[in-house]
Amino acid sequence: MAVEIETTRKSLVFAVNGERFELSSVDPSTTVLEFLRSQTRFKSVKLGCGEGGCGACVVLLSKYDPVLDQVEDFTASSCLTLLCSVNGCSITTSEGLGNSKDGFHPIHQRFTGFHASQCGFCTPGMCVSLFGALVNAEKTNRPEPSPGFSKLTVSEAEKAISGNLCRCTGYRSIADACKSFAADADIEDLGLNSFWRNGDSKEVKINRLPFYNHNKEISTFPEFLKKEIRSSMLLDSKRFSWYNPVSVEELQSLLESIEADNGSLIKLVSGNTGMGYYKELDRYDRYIDIRYIPKLSSIRKDSAGIEIGATVTITKAIEALRKENKCEVHSKGEMVFKKIANHMEKIASGFVRNTASVGGNLVMAQRKHFPSDIATILLAVGSMVDIMNGPRREKIMLEEFLERPPLDSNSVLLNVKIPNWESIKNISCETNTMLLFETYRAAPRPLGNALPYLNAAFLAELSRCKPSDEIIINNCQLAFGAYGTKHAIRAKKLEDFLAGKILSVGVLYEAIKLVRATVIPEDGTSSPAYRSSLAIGFLFDFLSPLIDNSGEISNGLLDGYMSNVLVKDFKINHNYVQLDHNKTQALLSSAKQVIGLSTEYHPVGEPITKSGASIQASGEAIYVDDIPSPANCLYGSFIYSTEPLALVKGIKFQPKPYPDGLAAVITYNDIPTGGENIGSKTIFGTEPLFAEELTECAGQRLAFVVADTQKHADMAIKFAVVDYDVENLEPPILSVEEAVKKSSLFEVPSFIYPKQVGDILEGMAEADQKIVSAEIKLGSQYYFYMETQTALAVPDEDNCMVVYSSSQVPEWTHIVIARCLGIPHHNVRVITRRVGGGFGGKSVKAMPVATACALAAHKLRRPVRIYLDRKTDMIMAGGRHPMKITYSVGFKSNGKITALQLEILIDAGLSADISPVMPHNVLGALKKYDWGALSFDIKVCKTNHSSKSAMRAPGEVQGSFIAEAVIEHVASVLSMEVDSVRSINLHTYNSLSLFYEGGADEPFEYTLPSIWDSLAMSSSLCHRTEMVKEFNRNNKWRKRGISRIPIVHEVMLRPTPGKVSILNDGSIVVEVGGIELGQGLWTKVKQMAAFALSSIKCDGAGDLLDKVRVIQSDTLSLIQGGFTAGSTTSESSCEAVRLCCDILVERLRPLRERLQEQMDSIQWEMLIDQAHLQAVNLSASSYFVPDLTSMRYLNYGAAVSEVEVNLLTGETTILQTDIIYDCGQSLNPAVDLGQIEGAFVQGIGFFMLEEYLTNSNGLVVVEGTWTYKIPTLDTIPKQFNVQVLNSGHHKNRVLSSKASGEPPLVLAASVHCATRAAIKEARKQLLSWSSQDGSTTTSTAFQLEVPATMPVVKELCGLESVERYLEWSMGTK
Ligand SMILES: Cc1cc2nc3c(=O)[nH]c(=O)nc-3n(C[C@H](O)[C@H](O)[C@H](O)COP(=O)(O)OP(=O)(O)OC[C@H]3O[C@@H](n4cnc5c(N)ncnc54)[C@H](O)[C@@H]3O)c2cc1C
Ligand code: FES
Ligand code: FES
Repeated sequence: MAVEIETTRKSLVFAVNGERFELSSVDPSTTVLEFLRSQTRFKSVKLGCGEGGCGACVVLLSKYDPVLDQVEDFTASSCLTLLCSVNGCSITTSEGLGNSKDGFHPIHQRFTGFHASQCGFCTPGMCVSLFGALVNAEKTNRPEPSPGFSKLTVSEAEKAISGNLCRCTGYRSIADACKSFAADADIEDLGLNSFWRNGDSKEVKINRLPFYNHNKEISTFPEFLKKEIRSSMLLDSKRFSWYNPVSVEELQSLLESIEADNGSLIKLVSGNTGMGYYKELDRYDRYIDIRYIPKLSSIRKDSAGIEIGATVTITKAIEALRKENKCEVHSKGEMVFKKIANHMEKIASGFVRNTASVGGNLVMAQRKHFPSDIATILLAVGSMVDIMNGPRREKIMLEEFLERPPLDSNSVLLNVKIPNWESIKNISCETNTMLLFETYRAAPRPLGNALPYLNAAFLAELSRCKPSDEIIINNCQLAFGAYGTKHAIRAKKLEDFLAGKILSVGVLYEAIKLVRATVIPEDGTSSPAYRSSLAIGFLFDFLSPLIDNSGEISNGLLDGYMSNVLVKDFKINHNYVQLDHNKTQALLSSAKQVIGLSTEYHPVGEPITKSGASIQASGEAIYVDDIPSPANCLYGSFIYSTEPLALVKGIKFQPKPYPDGLAAVITYNDIPTGGENIGSKTIFGTEPLFAEELTECAGQRLAFVVADTQKHADMAIKFAVVDYDVENLEPPILSVEEAVKKSSLFEVPSFIYPKQVGDILEGMAEADQKIVSAEIKLGSQYYFYMETQTALAVPDEDNCMVVYSSSQVPEWTHIVIARCLGIPHHNVRVITRRVGGGFGGKSVKAMPVATACALAAHKLRRPVRIYLDRKTDMIMAGGRHPMKITYSVGFKSNGKITALQLEILIDAGLSADISPVMPHNVLGALKKYDWGALSFDIKVCKTNHSSKSAMRAPGEVQGSFIAEAVIEHVASVLSMEVDSVRSINLHTYNSLSLFYEGGADEPFEYTLPSIWDSLAMSSSLCHRTEMVKEFNRNNKWRKRGISRIPIVHEVMLRPTPGKVSILNDGSIVVEVGGIELGQGLWTKVKQMAAFALSSIKCDGAGDLLDKVRVIQSDTLSLIQGGFTAGSTTSESSCEAVRLCCDILVERLRPLRERLQEQMDSIQWEMLIDQAHLQAVNLSASSYFVPDLTSMRYLNYGAAVSEVEVNLLTGETTILQTDIIYDCGQSLNPAVDLGQIEGAFVQGIGFFMLEEYLTNSNGLVVVEGTWTYKIPTLDTIPKQFNVQVLNSGHHKNRVLSSKASGEPPLVLAASVHCATRAAIKEARKQLLSWSSQDGSTTTSTAFQLEVPATMPVVKELCGLESVERYLEWSMGTK
């Protein structure tokens, strides 16, 4: 027994979902995620980024305090949490909340019912993030919530998931699922769900929600672990190389002893979240976990201030800083603490802040120049730090700490002390002095999870001059950081200048000049002028309300500034609204979803929940990387080129010639005799799997490293050094202009090249005015599927290969693998069950990933798998096609366009991929307006960039945008309302038929004109346009814009196979060519099978939905699966299934009729049982081949978006979006609604946020979530109203339905156009300020780049707008 305890005490012991785990040894660099995914059956924790930026890996960690007998629960990113640090902890994953065997948790059920899971890859992380918030809300002493609800608030529910990324849903549905638990949720505000129907009473609605019993939440900490903890849980430090000192002295002697042990690499560990940013390659000999040292983990408060131990987490620091505030509501010092807490809440996300320490942050800022928020805000308030180096202890100012050379690895930051300003300064009404404090940050995401472009914090001690009542600045401390500086700085010259000054416009103007001279980003920082202008904007925001004449200035003040009650005390200005930056209002206001139901083809047409949503939520759904590794499995990683054009002379590994675990390096030389160097294929050509002697683009695959673990494979490629030779080579082609010059073009087959419309010369001759040779440039976009590319290849008997691939095109992947290996096609089998998001990126680009695994498996005769790390995935993905567009347009004075001439250069990159279809797609979407005559020259350029591929609405999003840019340009030349120019150029049915030859269907099916009008009504467009004007008249520093845009989007159906089999018990198995990517294909297919089989008309046949299972795609079981792309695979798969069912019904009918003669009622099960006995063939296959009438059709929709632009920061807030989209008679309106919302938000990413940047070699330089910002909950429209229009019968469509996957993405251009409208207002205002001195350099005509990021918007609004305003202000005095 004694021996047993001894073992237990020295091992690593923890619980996962109540199960005990004990490890006698482990590599100390192992993360919780690595352990869970590779050593347990709990696969719900997904790897989305590996750097704390996505939330797919979130788990709930619970710690037990035996003294207080209390459990502390908090969410954490398991990809950053080291396994040794969870000794004695309990981990809860989504499977632990509930599952298919023991019953799902209400969280899972509500996510399902609110249609909040599409591909499902993000869903378990979302569920755990919400669970963490629920568990902690229940611990509060808030009033008892109503039955079925929790103590959580709506705002907390939203914040709980604001750091979790989802690329599919558009977040609205997820937010509703989360809010449904909130005590203060208005049930009427919650969106479409499967629980209730319109018109149900509030009580009925509440009763129909899966019941949540807040008093009976699952236990997060098992009793057995509590007992073990009480009897101590020590790790064998030596065995684990993991040390847990419990006192400063112990830490000190440990460090000393290690120092003596020369060359030993040590790492102090607190939360280890720093690994998310610095993906260190160093292997440490020893890890010292410093969180158990009371001095470092405690918070002490006294009248002089608050001392925060270095290992205190940001979450705990926030709580403590806020708590202080509660004690003394009116204290000025406490107000400073509160504001620091508010700012800290915008650092990273909840699940990072819960483990990230304040000390870790400051050390990163000090040692590695991390762009810290904490350093800046604590610098402004004069904080001090306590450091220990050996026996030496020092208390120094934070400023000095930051300025010192980087802290050595033996130095320890013990704590930081934030002074209480009230105690330092005699600040009171009696002394006529006041304290003003404010913090700022400008970042792409308002709620956090994004590093700032710049942050700032300003503290000022003020008094009022008597009798003039002017404000004098006695002293101030002004800190700026994160703008491309080594560390946060105090602007000393500026502080000195302001000290003792009476505030006036002139003083402010001079101060701003000093800011410009002080805040200068270092060379190489992106958007340097923008960052400097932010500093100016923030200082202006801080000081301008204090100026005597601030009545005028303050009208346009930023929301948020006036949170400072001290300003109120001062009674400087009575006019402005007091708004707190961080007041806990909900992020999203209520959204409306209107769907047109139809029961004609029951259950087709009903908003049933997505097939598999519950197991996706619980994490039981199996994605390729969740398949357990077969014995002897190896893992791969790609070495890619960093040069655009070079000879590859060799590849070495340095400094380690044989990296750990390395098994093989596979190159084109390993392709077997008879095989081909082929990595992908489309109808337009092939792409090699590996570059041979010559690499022709950065990002091209050079080799496939295979190792014993994924970690080793990923590490190995980091040590790879490629020897390039560029001598005697032509320079690479890195621009479309260069490609044209060198005639480096891909051929576009004439059958897909679009046709010109009308006579361009005539059209131009008709015009009253012309714009000649205007130019637009459009960049790329990355897919950012949450599941990166992945495959598993398993060699099978007789020279066969089974490959599990996350692919949208298993059929073609199959062909490529067979060709590469040189084996007959029947020796290959590609299996795809579900894909964690595709968006086109898992079509052509998934093929080489699967093929490389197959090649390595073939050569090594062992299973080989890969799960690409995010960085490599981003580098190899290619993404959307960049383009350059030059247009000339002729138009009448009333806005009617008579001719449009275009020259479009498309950058296709190195291989043809699907690029030759781009001219067709671009033009297809651009033709949404009647241009009179349309003529174009489109070139598909072959360059030395990675080959571009299809991304959701490929070409259409660009085409539609070009159309809008032309319309906007015409409107601005004519000084007309853009909306009128749009309206006047909308197609009539006749012009539509002319532009879309053969695609326009019947006149009544052209629903765009009616959508256009009803959207104006439903969105109150006219009224809101007036309100926007009013707002813009009354606000100087915020401007609004509103914009309505239409779409006409052509889609095409492709041949698709299906197979339906009815098993003995009456259950049904369906196979289809289409792949479930999250778009709800399986759900619609199930509905269709249930509908089509119901025509047998026996008892129970009307209710077959639950009997249908759609199974994984297997390329040998069902051939000719084709591409899952172009929005139409769901409907064509449905049609294929309908054909199968019709065959089965025909076969069953004679039997049913015979049986009917013998009995009154025939049950479905009985019919099938008899059919089996009587040898009826109960399996049918089909191949749906659309005919000419059904192959192509047009989709219609329109959107109105309203935005507000902050002129000081360039931030755009989407206030409201209204969409009407025609789905025909939707096969499933809930699925289609999800597609519309999700696509639209992905479009917001393209138009507003996502910068897929490359260096001068064309190598992608954005590497993950730190730099590539997809939309999050806080960047979607605050109010998001969508109507899924049921436009009735369409005889050539599949049960009258229309597509929804891609077209709505294009509607997001409405946000961009609204932003342009707001900027236009800003520029007009700027012009009015500038014109005083005669300067009119800023014109109102401009192009707004895509994406319209904050720097882009701010630049157009005027980087020097504050200066211009102040000059104007002084001039008018
Ligand atoms: C996704 C994400 C987003 C983020 N966004 C922001 C942001 O917007 N603004 C911002 O300011 N920060 C941001 N951060 C940074 C975050 O605040 C830091 O990662 C965190 O505070 C570091 O704390 P830690 O306990 O995890 O440190 P660790 O990772 O454990 O340590 C970091 C480094 O400091 C050393 N170290 C730790 N403690 C001490 C000590 N007491 N003495 C000496 N050395 C020590 C460690 O050895 C290590 O080198 C973000 C982080 C992530 C992961
Ligand atoms: S995988 Fe951990 S946060 Fe993305
Ligand atoms: S459902 Fe969220 S990423 Fe797919």
